[in-house]
Amino acid sequence: MRGFDFRSPAKKGKIAVFLSGRGSNFEALREAVDEGRINAAIALVFSNKADAPGLLKAREAGLETLFLDPKAHANREEYDQAIARELDKRGVDLICLAGYMKVLTPGLCEAFKHRILNIHPALLPAFPGLHVQQKAIDWGVRVSGCTVHFVAAEVDMGPIVLQAVVPVLQDDTEETLAARILVEEHRIYPEAVRLFFDGRLGIEGRRVFILEPGD
Ligand code: GAR
Repeated sequence: MRGFDFRSPAKKGKIAVFLSGRGSNFEALREAVDEGRINAAIALVFSNKADAPGLLKAREAGLETLFLDPKAHANREEYDQAIARELDKRGVDLICLAGYMKVLTPGLCEAFKHRILNIHPALLPAFPGLHVQQKAIDWGVRVSGCTVHFVAAEVDMGPIVLQAVVPVLQDDTEETLAARILVEEHRIYPEAVRLFFDGRLGIEGRRVFILEPGD
């Protein structure tokens, strides 16, 4: 089994970060890239929201940003095809969904098969979808956490790369639990992207294997 091979220093990987909101996971990725922990550059920060605070942060950091208006496209397929053309122009290797709140079409998932990662604020396959911190509290689970996974056409169900666990406390609100989980998101997302660009993620079916360096 082999991971994606980006280990040659001559070939630095290219990341496109997709976001719709505040962009704290984008910032965690950017920091890891800036510190040389990830063998890749952020080639594009993309959003479906013109006023996403994360886009502004990216611009301030001197990164290329792009907003495409979903309403200017006839349907989701055409929208995602327009996105794919922009990614191809820039030779993007990996899409990192970082709070991107629009479901990708099967066409885009297939075009970037095993080259799209997402961060989700729950321990998948428990609690897919939205408002998952509140759902965890309402279910009375004792632990929750976050999941980095490859994106497949079925929402929140692609192969799992890394997870981190946090306790759910009896007096937690959605906000306090989300904040505890977010700390772990910022830790494991850059780590997963690092493994990807070091060629250390192998996929068999729905299982992801973390390969030893040099495997
Ligand atoms: C994060 O908690 C992320 O896990 C979640 O949105 C937040 C984005 O925050 N993503 C999802 O719920 C995807 N289903 P950020 O903009 O500060 O990174």
